Amino acid sequence: MSSLANGYVVREVDDRPALDAIRHAIVRLACGHLKCDIPPDDGDFLNRIHERVAVSEINALRLHVFNGLNAHAWCRPSYLALARSAIDRLVGNELAMQNKVNLSIQMPNDETSTLAVHADVWSAETPYEVVQWTPLVDVHDTKAMYILRPEVNRTVRHRMSTLKDGGRDFDLFEAYRDEFHWVPVKYGQTLIFSPILLHGNVRNDTTESRWSLNCRPHRAVHAV
Ligand SMILES: [Fe+2]
Repeated sequence: MSSLANGYVVREVDDRPALDAIRHAIVRLACGHLKCDIPPDDGDFLNRIHERVAVSEINALRLHVFNGLNAHAWCRPSYLALARSAIDRLVGNELAMQNKVNLSIQMPNDETSTLAVHADVWSAETPYEVVQWTPLVDVHDTKAMYILRPEVNRTVRHRMSTLKDGGRDFDLFEAYRDEFHWVPVKYGQTLIFSPILLHGNVRNDTTESRWSLNCRPHRAVHAV
């Protein structure tokens, strides 16, 4: 895995039928919420969701689909199965993971759904884990997520610690804008990256909506 130098890997999913089934369940849930017919092409429906849903209504749709998806007992094991072989190698095979698989939707020009630059370890996640991020449509450019390379990532903490105001007014994204790497991922692939790395997204300036799932499998800790 030479891509480990980048702090992430993009892999074909181990179980494509499982990914297709997850995506189809999501489309069915969305159609239930929107009271529309099941479309012939799941990917096309998701890519063009902004033609049916206003920015002000997208979070209600997202919550409906998130709750419905996570109500299925197969949801977490199916999601983990998408990247099981890579996660076994990176984290180990005694795994724990969060209770829910998260769902994000970023429609074109929606400023409200952007996720400012952050590292998941900052919100007290364990570093003995990886982030498993899987798009439900092809993503590229601002429809994708950005990651800061490990060698640059290492300089951020030092730089922030030297700021007079403790970094409160420091615009991390602007300061490192040229260093962020936009990671293209096709439907059928999954992105696995370190929670130590800074990442996020900006306003989606493409013509298609982004849908993605994420979860953070980590090494199980045994009580002794
Ligand atoms: Fe994150």
